[in-house]
Amino acid sequence: MNVSDSERIASQLEADGYEMTDSEDSADVILFNTCSVREKAEHKLFTRVGQVHHSPNKDKIVGIMGCVAQLEGDTLFKKTDGVNFVLGTQAVGRVSDAIKNVSKKKDTFVDLDGREVDYDWSTSSSQRHSPYIAFVPIIEGCNKFCTYCIVPFARGREKSLSASEIIREVLRLRREGVKEVHLIGQNVNSYRPETESGLEEFDGSTLFSRLLRAVAATGIERLKFTTSFPRDFHSDIVDAMDEYENLCDWVHLPVQSGSNRILKAMRRGHTIENYKKRIDKIKSSPRDISLTTDIIVGFPGETDEDFAKTIDLVENCRFDSSYIFKYSPRLGTPAAELEDDVDAETKKQRFLELEKVQKRIQAEIFNNCLGTTKKVLAEKVSGRVGEHLTGHSTCQKVVNFKAGKDFLGKVVDVRITECKTNTLHGEIC
Ligand code: 5AD
Ligand code: SF4
Repeated sequence: MNVSDSERIASQLEADGYEMTDSEDSADVILFNTCSVREKAEHKLFTRVGQVHHSPNKDKIVGIMGCVAQLEGDTLFKKTDGVNFVLGTQAVGRVSDAIKNVSKKKDTFVDLDGREVDYDWSTSSSQRHSPYIAFVPIIEGCNKFCTYCIVPFARGREKSLSASEIIREVLRLRREGVKEVHLIGQNVNSYRPETESGLEEFDGSTLFSRLLRAVAATGIERLKFTTSFPRDFHSDIVDAMDEYENLCDWVHLPVQSGSNRILKAMRRGHTIENYKKRIDKIKSSPRDISLTTDIIVGFPGETDEDFAKTIDLVENCRFDSSYIFKYSPRLGTPAAELEDDVDAETKKQRFLELEKVQKRIQAEIFNNCLGTTKKVLAEKVSGRVGEHLTGHSTCQKVVNFKAGKDFLGKVVDVRITECKTNTLHGEIC
């Protein structure tokens, strides 16, 4: 979501006549788009702002945007040196105003207000991370309030964009030559636009699966979506994936823990039993759908027994990949009131043990890919070897293959000949 916001900030600035530079030393404006989901991300911000402040470039304007900005507001002026403005998560469309304001008045500026009605959700191709891939937000914010999570406080309540707006944007991107659209949101499958309320349950289909079908029907070459919330993951989403070939074979479904006791303390609203039912539905699809997840180790009160259940779950679900995080208390969340009683060493040991299990499973899944053919979007030249290209498969695995630049932006069939820890390698067939 932050990458997507950054792309929109850059697009808006480009439209207002600004130019992007890679050089911090010559930049007139330096913007930090921040994340506060874990402590580590926040620390990084303070280190980087300090480095920028002490750089030889003294006349620059520095702005802090995103989640840390929303949560901290003007306290950031006290906690940092050299910051000129602070813009919250809903104020990203007003960045030009903030720059103009501080350059004219030579004073600090804060905007933590809500979104303007005519906010432009589109991105310009020159400012996207890839000219062939576009993120399209369909829902922002979160109402779930998992006890460890700061996101509902930083991003506000869930707000869905209208289906017609989303479809118009996807059609525009398709005309522009975009090959792959990612529908994004904290919980995409909680999609519920106000204008279409009352229509949510219709012949067993939810508004999200109906949106998926409508977007797939635009004919966009590849369609992915992330992140899904387990409680709202209705079986009809898998049915939609079975119906539309351009709906890619990948589901990211964060489980967070394998212990019902911990899930309850996290207030996740799902149990291991109903999570596994969703996995069974995904695995029963005639398509080979790849599965990824997020897991937190060391939540307050997590015992060896709870952790063993997380290991069992990972063995059982055989995720293609898992993002594993050590729990860190976020000020203002209910869990931060609990004693952070799993010590740092135990968190580290659990992290490493879970990572080891996940790596073994991932290696087994990768090995099974040998000899198969993957449809890969050729996204860019591989950094390490000049004559190789790299991209993602429909199942969201990174694939490197030998090919010339003329293949860039094309979806090609690649036969997998080799696998490394996190990447597959192959040749065009
Ligand atoms: N500590 C550790 N991990 C967290 N996440 C969210 N909040 C915390 C926290 N306080 C993880 C969850 C979420 C992912 C984006 O970040 O696993 O799914
Ligand atoms: Fe955070 Fe839970 Fe919302 Fe995900 S669903 S953003 S973990 S509160």
